[in-house]
Amino acid sequence: MTRRQFLTLTGGAAATGVALYTWRIEPHWLEIVRRPLPIRGLPASLAGKTLAHISDIHVGPRVDDDYLVEAFARLRALDADIVAVTGDFVSHHAEMFAQMDRIYRHFPHGRLATVSVLGNHDYGPGWAHPEVADRVVEIVERHGIRVLRNTIADIGGLQVVGLDDLWADRFDPWVAFSRFDASRPAIALSHNPDTVDRPGWDGYSGWILSGHTHGGQCKPPFLPPPLLPVRNRRYTCGEFELAGGRRLYISRGVGHLMRVRVNVRPEITLFSLERA
Ligand SMILES: [Fe+2]
Repeated sequence: MTRRQFLTLTGGAAATGVALYTWRIEPHWLEIVRRPLPIRGLPASLAGKTLAHISDIHVGPRVDDDYLVEAFARLRALDADIVAVTGDFVSHHAEMFAQMDRIYRHFPHGRLATVSVLGNHDYGPGWAHPEVADRVVEIVERHGIRVLRNTIADIGGLQVVGLDDLWADRFDPWVAFSRFDASRPAIALSHNPDTVDRPGWDGYSGWILSGHTHGGQCKPPFLPPPLLPVRNRRYTCGEFELAGGRRLYISRGVGHLMRVRVNVRPEITLFSLERA
């Protein structure tokens, strides 16, 4: 073998290896991230309980069914007290409702509650089909996931405020917070991190859990990811301090749109609730 042939061969093998990694390995290399979630006024009965946050599942043609069923098994093994989903249950496609029904029957439930909000992809093409979102809600609720659409769930004295989706033009904090009691403990769920910069959060100071960005899916080392579907380019993934005593956590999500992830592994976050 000549030197040139050798270099061509090894270069080709390396490129194939990188392609396989970004396509087959990292999109399915789920990380369980463990973090504290300090909440002001948390009832003693909830201190030490856990909340598993999962986002952007994207059931559809680009995410392997067996990967999602395995991710749900990992979620089940966490044995969380509360399970919270922050939207994009599905990517729109022809067989989506039948596929959702098959996949979400494997979805595990929190011991106390399983709650969620919708994302833009749950609203069909152009995020403009409320009738699609209604079917999505019907299916996931049949499988034990309660969907909060600008409303509040009470979980053992903790208010969970669920905001509907921004891009679908359904984000309405005035409706969501209309029955909010600022003197009691709370967290909020909102798919799109840009919602935190919108008006309507006055009187709320606490955590906002979100998703939507997938962490950018591909991130060069030491640089921000080039593709981020948010107006505020600060909102990649992880924790952010906001005005008004609010804090934002953006999950990197579990699924993907294009099947490629680089330096942005999929994530399920296991929060442990503590008194702030
Ligand atoms: Fe998404």
